[in-house]
Amino acid sequence: MIPKIPFDTADLRAKDNRWIHPWQDMSDIDHQKRTVITGGEGVYVYDSDGNRLMDGPAGMWCVNVGHGRSEIAEAIAEQARRMTYYSPWSLANGPAAELAAKLVEIAPDEFNHVFFTTGGSTAVDSALRFVMFFNNVLGRPEKKHIISRHDAYHGSTYLSASCSGKVRDKNYMDFVSDFIHHLPSPNPYRRPDGMSIEDFCEARVKDLEEKILGLGPEKVAAFIAEPILASGGVIVPPDGYHAKCMEICRNHDVLYISDEVVTGFGRLGHFFSSKDVFDVDADIIISAKGLTSGYQPLGAVLIHDRVLSRVSGPDAEGVSFSSGFTYSGHPVACAAALKNIEIMEREDLMVHVREVSPYFQDRLRAMLDIPIVGDVRGMGLMGCIECVISRDRKDPLTLDYEIGNRIDKYCQDLGLLVRPMINMCVMSPPLTITRKQIDEMMQILRKGIELAMEDVRNEGIWDG
Ligand SMILES: Cc1ncc(COP(=O)(O)O)c(C=O)c1O
Repeated sequence: MIPKIPFDTADLRAKDNRWIHPWQDMSDIDHQKRTVITGGEGVYVYDSDGNRLMDGPAGMWCVNVGHGRSEIAEAIAEQARRMTYYSPWSLANGPAAELAAKLVEIAPDEFNHVFFTTGGSTAVDSALRFVMFFNNVLGRPEKKHIISRHDAYHGSTYLSASCSGKVRDKNYMDFVSDFIHHLPSPNPYRRPDGMSIEDFCEARVKDLEEKILGLGPEKVAAFIAEPILASGGVIVPPDGYHAKCMEICRNHDVLYISDEVVTGFGRLGHFFSSKDVFDVDADIIISAKGLTSGYQPLGAVLIHDRVLSRVSGPDAEGVSFSSGFTYSGHPVACAAALKNIEIMEREDLMVHVREVSPYFQDRLRAMLDIPIVGDVRGMGLMGCIECVISRDRKDPLTLDYEIGNRIDKYCQDLGLLVRPMINMCVMSPPLTITRKQIDEMMQILRKGIELAMEDVRNEGIWDG
């Protein structure tokens, strides 16, 4: 048990209002009353008032080995003491070299090189810059179009945000639109009435081929896809969708970028899921989050030999990939990643996830009996409960926030952090979660949803 340290919550909250947070509500910039998280242990965190809360989203899909791992803290401290930092441009450091070799060992075959970044967005951005570079070196500067999908989330740099496809994030923001395109979301729940899943799958795959042919394959550089669209609401595309998309990309010499920022590092029971779970032989794999379990910021872009070999080696005399960061391969972050992977291997966390996730998914799906729950979906240790005010209409809800905010509040009062995405409760707990803790999580979640449902019913917001 973490010792209770006295925190002055009111003081911290006042100071916190100097911080412009991600997705800041600008109308209320000085009056937010955020919960202040002050500690963590396993699947639980503690707030500044000493409340223990189960961590439903694992921070933000990232604290995969759980909170409070002193081994990682010690690895970080030891590396910071010994060699904090040196320039990655022309010099090497031990942890980055070791981590590169380790990633190559655990990645699918023929991914023999990695480019380090500072997080997921910079990894996506770097992958896209690499794709542009790739085509320039190959003498086809017109092959630059990128295809993404609605409901995707790829980050917050200009390019990665431009690839993202969450409609509600587009307000007031600017994006690259001349060479980045979005296909319809492969969300089976939103498929047209009467359409079979198989036909829906074919239709979404056809979207990709038609887009490539419409733009001209000689102009399309890459397709970027999360295996499961995480922030879009844990959208699991129909079986076979990914492999078919990959085949289309191959047929048209379009690179397939698999964004595994969420689905990697154990979330689906494998270090990398593209090949092992979805049978996708990607050209580029992007990783972050679970790579360090959130103990340090780090991202990685893995590039397949079939791609890298075309722009490197003796024929690439005088060619330089002019991209990188002061903190590329930061030794302290890499030391954290190495220890994180060591823990995952030593504790057989991949096997554990494969063992507990069917139970997790079953318990989650059992909530379909709650009238306001429209859809429950997921895979591995990621799941989503989507609440809908009207199940029949499946409307894009104007009152989505009403239900989400209430669930959030009730669950937190009951001891579970949910942080719904509007009307969607996304669960992605630390991978160490036990069956007993899954029971605890589901009991609270059910209660929270039922209480919120009663509220919206009593207030006339919902007539279910
Ligand atoms: C699939 C995916 N890609 C990229 C990112 C961006 O990562 P970061 O927030 O570390 O920049 C995220 C973040 O949630 C993500 O879910």
